Amino acid sequence: MTSSQDPAPSPPPAAAAQLWGRTALVTGGSGGIGSAIVRALAEQGATVAVVDADERARGIAAEVGGTGVVADLTEPDVAQRIVDQVVSETGSLDVLVNAAGIQVRTPAIDISPQAWEHLVAVNLTAAYRLTQAAVKPLAAARGSIVNVVSLSSDRAVAGIVPYGATKAGLLQLTKGLAVELGPQGIRVNAVAPGYVVTPMTAEKLADPEFRERVMSRIPLGRLADGDDVADVISFLVSDAARYVTGAVVPVDGGYSIT
Ligand SMILES: NC(=O)c1ccc[n+]([C@@H]2O[C@H](COP(=O)([O-])OP(=O)(O)OC[C@H]3O[C@@H](n4cnc5c(N)ncnc54)[C@H](O)[C@@H]3O)[C@@H](O)[C@H]2O)c1
Repeated sequence: MTSSQDPAPSPPPAAAAQLWGRTALVTGGSGGIGSAIVRALAEQGATVAVVDADERARGIAAEVGGTGVVADLTEPDVAQRIVDQVVSETGSLDVLVNAAGIQVRTPAIDISPQAWEHLVAVNLTAAYRLTQAAVKPLAAARGSIVNVVSLSSDRAVAGIVPYGATKAGLLQLTKGLAVELGPQGIRVNAVAPGYVVTPMTAEKLADPEFRERVMSRIPLGRLADGDDVADVISFLVSDAARYVTGAVVPVDGGYSIT
């Protein structure tokens, strides 16, 4: 029995600080999913470097007490510069989340050479270069990497075939790097979101026929938001997932099993 004099119950100790003292670098941190990842990791106590071509990175970083880095990840040598900046400012790098991405909606045969090159550069090469640049500090920290892939990484989705090809490459990179970097103590995992309402998908999901078709295949009966994806990433980079590597976790409300 409690009386009005009893002190209020205290919150569970350190429940919100699984990543206390750790530094995370999140690309695409201005985006719908990336900004949710930034906030989720910061809530767990991490210091977050928010990397994006969009200026909003600075404001989102300021909101969580982190560092905003406005950069185009397709520029040469940018990956090493970003990693060096983050390590010199914070002293370490424990987590790398590759969430920057673009989508081109076109029949595969019609994509221009420039659009193809740019798609590969953002969705695949940038994640690879950042990983190369980050291996040394990640190994020192026994840290981890999470790549954001897609439902289209391992299934044919008409209209976004080139996008799917880049995400398939990123999925395979995830598994291969998990094998090669595991002995250095670095875990490498991926999340495969289903349909998340963000600037990338807003227009397509506003089409009632498309939306209805998608919804009919989601057992959980709703589209995702960025937090649905971010919470799974928080788990994957935490010590609770210390024996998980090379995993690709669908975060799709069950879409991929229908
Ligand atoms: N929204 C979905 O339904 C969905 C589903 C599966 C996977 N994904 C993946 O999730 C990730 C995040 O997507 P989102 O839905 O949040 O989209 P979004 O468009 O809101 O965010 C993508 C971010 O990447 C940044 N970016 C693009 N090119 C860049 C470059 N050259 N350099 C630096 N930053 C760059 C953009 O500025 C943007 O902030 C992407 O990799 C996307 O492919 C999204």
